[in-house]
Amino acid sequence: MDYAQFDRVRAVAPGTHFLELLDQRLLPGQILQLRLTTASQVVDAIASLQVRGAPAIGIAGAYGAWLAALEFAEHSDWRTQVRAALLRLRNARPTAVNLAWAVDQQLALLDGAVDAASLVNAFKAKADQIRADDLAANHLMGRLGAELIAQGSSVLTHCNTGSLATAGFGTALGVVRAAFAEGRIKETYAAETRPWLQGARLTAWELLQDAIPARLVADGAGALLFSSGRAHWLIVGADRIARNGDTANKIGTLAHACAAKQFGAKVMVVAPFSTVDMDCKDGASIHIEERSEDELLSYGGVRTVAEGVRAFNPVFDVTPAHLIDAIVTERGVVQGDFSRGLKLLGSTA
Ligand code: MRU
Repeated sequence: MDYAQFDRVRAVAPGTHFLELLDQRLLPGQILQLRLTTASQVVDAIASLQVRGAPAIGIAGAYGAWLAALEFAEHSDWRTQVRAALLRLRNARPTAVNLAWAVDQQLALLDGAVDAASLVNAFKAKADQIRADDLAANHLMGRLGAELIAQGSSVLTHCNTGSLATAGFGTALGVVRAAFAEGRIKETYAAETRPWLQGARLTAWELLQDAIPARLVADGAGALLFSSGRAHWLIVGADRIARNGDTANKIGTLAHACAAKQFGAKVMVVAPFSTVDMDCKDGASIHIEERSEDELLSYGGVRTVAEGVRAFNPVFDVTPAHLIDAIVTERGVVQGDFSRGLKLLGSTA
């Protein structure tokens, strides 16, 4: 397929001595390219969701390491400074394993580095490789996932898993793109994804640019789509997949998956193998990020609920493996026994 036709934006792009990020807090109203020159700016951008989506924050973290090496290369204690910066990057957000996975690869390079100048080049090369591999993985997963979708199907997706959340093309949204290109998809529904509206602001915007017809639905409409037969698949990404297949993803995914299974629809999780955490035995071991109450109590900086109301704002939930029909990775598709299937894929590195 012509991938470029369905992949028009880039969330993360390196410059000569800086990193460009498309500010995802402002989309779609404002298109602002941020130019970051320090690792601490990258930490802030990840924590504040200027860059978000598990693969994209991994890529940003890898380039953040490169910026740290550039910044501290002339310091006598460069090794100590760079290590501290990398640990701050690693901890900028807790749930998406891709961030730790990417930064850990840079930490390994730091351990073996002989001087700061060669470290700068090694960090840049590793970040470029992580970015290129992610794009290639997404293209492959798009094809593999699309094969599972019967002609004339309609799908619901949640959050944003597209070019903005990855190196390009997307994971779950990559499958939607590939399946649409192959004429398999009748209708795509994007759930708005409260409170941050990744579905409404980002997914709907990406699909509009690709001229893929889509309809926005309220998060609570998922059950109606499945019960009425309007949607046949739930297709989502992941922030961390435990070795038994339990999958952490944006809050609301679990409710959609329960509804899909209740009414006979299918559930597909699409993620690069870097999102599979073989050290994590099950969903109960996954750290679920809680963010500020303000994200729920206000909208656009204006408080929408009575003063004194409190909120609880977990931003991910865990869908148990038994609710999932297929996990699509670039190493292959796992259906059925996820523990066995993921272990097998893990040994194919
Ligand atoms: O809080 P976010 O926007 O970073 O959450 C993103 C998601 O939950 C995505 O579904 C997941 O990271 C997969 S992105 C390919």
